[in-house]
Amino acid sequence: MAKRVQGKATSKTTAASKGKAADKGKAADKGKAADKGKAADKGKAADKGKAAGKSKVAGKSKVAGKSKSYRVAIVGATGVVGREMLRTLEERRFPVSEIRLLASERSVGEILEFGEEEIRVGLLDDKSLGGLDLALFSAGSDVSLKYAPLAAEKGCVVIDNTSAFRRDEDVPLVVPEVNAGDLAAYTLRGIIANPNCSTIQMVVALKPLHDAAGLKRVVVATYQSVSGAGQSGVKELEQQCRDLFNMRELSVGHFGRQIAFNCLPQIDVFEADGYSREEHKMMHETRKILHLPDLPLSATTVRVPVFYGHAEAVNVELQKPLTQAEARELLSQAPGILLMDDPEEGQYPTPIDAAGRDETLVGRVRVDPSVPAGLDLWVVADNVRKGAALNSVQIAECLVADFL
Ligand SMILES: NC(=O)c1ccc[n+]([C@@H]2O[C@H](COP(=O)([O-])OP(=O)(O)OC[C@H]3O[C@@H](n4cnc5c(N)ncnc54)[C@H](OP(=O)(O)O)[C@@H]3O)[C@@H](O)[C@H]2O)c1
Repeated sequence: MAKRVQGKATSKTTAASKGKAADKGKAADKGKAADKGKAADKGKAADKGKAAGKSKVAGKSKVAGKSKSYRVAIVGATGVVGREMLRTLEERRFPVSEIRLLASERSVGEILEFGEEEIRVGLLDDKSLGGLDLALFSAGSDVSLKYAPLAAEKGCVVIDNTSAFRRDEDVPLVVPEVNAGDLAAYTLRGIIANPNCSTIQMVVALKPLHDAAGLKRVVVATYQSVSGAGQSGVKELEQQCRDLFNMRELSVGHFGRQIAFNCLPQIDVFEADGYSREEHKMMHETRKILHLPDLPLSATTVRVPVFYGHAEAVNVELQKPLTQAEARELLSQAPGILLMDDPEEGQYPTPIDAAGRDETLVGRVRVDPSVPAGLDLWVVADNVRKGAALNSVQIAECLVADFL
């Protein structure tokens, strides 16, 4: 099992405890490990970030303690995202009466912990999806295409973390801080799509700027961690690092070439226009979530040798100018954002700061002098958490608060 080794550069204990947490799939442990793992300067930076702006973690659970409780399944429960979903449900005290953990034959019988309970992973098949209120799907698009409609037919509401339904007009694509109002359309198919990880953190940051000054054009370059490719991505970077330090021959797998100490400007396959599928996802999903079907947007998505946390350099052109102070104020007040922006103190967010946190971290806010109204931002978030598991659980919370 690959270990969470992101903190290694700053703290040995971080690496060890994160590894443990990931191996055991324990909810509390991950958060704890991330907290403990904060190097002195990381803690400082985060504290200063808080001082610089209010930290409003969007969706502090509004359903914890609700009297009604729900029968919930996680499909793909043994994956990077599935394990984080389980932790997040526990941490936010989602009202669960039954939790069903499903995966492929490879993991049937594995035991995962949920609070005090030890739960055996079951096989995903046609019979496993009956008698549920909610199912969080995170086992890849093919699995979702086959089983999500089946689950919906049986009366269960599906929150799908894959790209299977994101483009479908009758499936809402939701980031609760941005477009929770779109959720009501879940009744059309019984399916709600969770956006791509790189899209989620960007739209959280774009929303307050759009509300205040109108988006005109967006250009983004991403720096995406290997956990975005699941367990196999984490293992591959770890193995390549070990092989390099031990002067062994490298083996290349998921990423197609060496990712250790390298940057790869390719995530997913290239399409006819030269953009990668990941870049297309960002462009299409952003327009859908912000209800701006004609928004000009260009993305370059890059895989970097970081274990957890995606970073993005976002250039925004606006309808009317905002000063640096105005932009910082808007971002610091927006739900789900933690502003960490104090250049004089060398303060800005990095993936290590974001790992294990709920917020989208924003720094390096600058006025772009090359256009009449523009800004540059640096946006960082935990791709497994806000980019996948937390966002799905926030959607579930909105659903049970308003509809179920
Ligand atoms: N990682 C991220 O940052 C991120 C962010 C947003 C969205 N996503 C999306 O989330 C999904 C899962 O990603 P991940 O990173 O968690 O991948 P992962 O670590 O590779 O986990 C995949 C999960 O799917 C299960 N699975 C695979 N094939 C299956 C099948 N035929 N039937 C039942 N279960 C099956 C696996 O079960 P076994 O243990 O049995 O193999 C495992 O639980 C993907 O669609 C991905 O694109 C990931």
